[in-house]
Amino acid sequence: MHKQSQWKSSTGFILASAGSAIGLGAMWKFPYMAGVNGGGAFLLMFLVFTIFVGLPLLIMEFTVGKMGKTYTTKIYEKLTQKKWLNIIGWNGNLAVFILFGFYSVIGGWIIIYIFNVALQIITFSNDTLSAVQFEAVIGNPWLTIAGQGVFILLTMVIVMMGVEKGLEKASKFMMPLLFIFLIIIVIKSLSLDGAYEGLKYILQPRLEDITMEGVLFALGQSFFTLSLGTTGMITYASYASKEMTIKTSAVSIVAMNILVSVLAGLAIFPAIAAFGYKPTEGPGLLFKVLPKVFDQMAMGQEFYLIFLILFLFAALTSSISLLELNVSNFTKNDNSKRKPVALYASLLVFVISIPATLSFSILKGVQFAAGTIFDNMDFLVSNILMPLGALGTTLVVGQLLNKDDLKTHFGNDKFKLFMPWYYLVKFVLPVVIILIFIVQFI
Ligand code: PFF
Repeated sequence: MHKQSQWKSSTGFILASAGSAIGLGAMWKFPYMAGVNGGGAFLLMFLVFTIFVGLPLLIMEFTVGKMGKTYTTKIYEKLTQKKWLNIIGWNGNLAVFILFGFYSVIGGWIIIYIFNVALQIITFSNDTLSAVQFEAVIGNPWLTIAGQGVFILLTMVIVMMGVEKGLEKASKFMMPLLFIFLIIIVIKSLSLDGAYEGLKYILQPRLEDITMEGVLFALGQSFFTLSLGTTGMITYASYASKEMTIKTSAVSIVAMNILVSVLAGLAIFPAIAAFGYKPTEGPGLLFKVLPKVFDQMAMGQEFYLIFLILFLFAALTSSISLLELNVSNFTKNDNSKRKPVALYASLLVFVISIPATLSFSILKGVQFAAGTIFDNMDFLVSNILMPLGALGTTLVVGQLLNKDDLKTHFGNDKFKLFMPWYYLVKFVLPVVIILIFIVQFI
């Protein structure tokens, strides 16, 4: 039976797309990217791109999903009658395979840390949380491969259960809890000696720190956190019922994402300064700094464990959207094939993820272009495939789709936002994305 899956309610759609957006991008990637690219300057560029580029693009992807109502390697043809444009969907699908490949590495680290902390608690260990050496954990090939295997397995099982049943209910309390925990960490972090320097680093934009590379990374970060350009959001919107509210959903997702990213920055940077770390630690930043903060808290082990579980939940709601895109495209929305497709796609992702994980151990020395294999996978997805996918969709929407049709799906236009949005997507955003690409290659 070829039946398009549907969310039970429009809340289901918002929760799932917010779940896809908020994940490792805001909490793990944002602080490390900001640390490498100048702190406050990066935050500023990220905010500008997220609000002026990310938000209109998210509205665009939701509109396309709502109009096309099918899987994304077909939707472009359905909307334009041009089969070759499905290549935009395939670009997204390729991006998602690679993205899931390196995403699961970090998901695996979270699982290993959960296991370690739980062990400390069960054995009444007096060791500090920071006694678990980050390098020893991620430098262990078998352990990390096992961790990411468990992460992929968890994602697969949830996706096999189908869109409605999965996570809708859990995210209603897991997400608010995560906010509360982040705020607790921020408060603790800000109270540390020397925190002010770190706060200044992340909040004060120093214009001399803006580099062309930083601009590209900030744009990539906006795409990454909002799950743009992979067509993942188009997929979720294609599952939504007619009453879905595109603009309200998009604005709230963008706002939550900014909030979580900023909170992550405020949690990490003061602690970096207080404990004498370098902001340029790279992908391990969060995992090195956070245990130190929790070590300063009463019941630190227990709080850290709860935080890690919430963090894992946020990562899983994102990885689910990655696998869901594959399931949607390869089952062509035929739900009877959901299980085998989820299984094969997960196995493929597992294979792709192995070189990414080994970039932190035995393949550490393999460095080219953007850095390690892991860095290159991230760069290829966030800075090339995602922007390319979004560019393709802007061209389809701006040049090929009928303005009145778009307006109908855009929904109620009380604030007269349709025209500015339409012109932004038609003229401005493609030029911005192309320009940033060109400058990068010069
Ligand atoms: N937005 C997710 C995060 O920030 O963790 C990552 C992501 C999920 C990107 C799904 C793309 C996607 F299709």
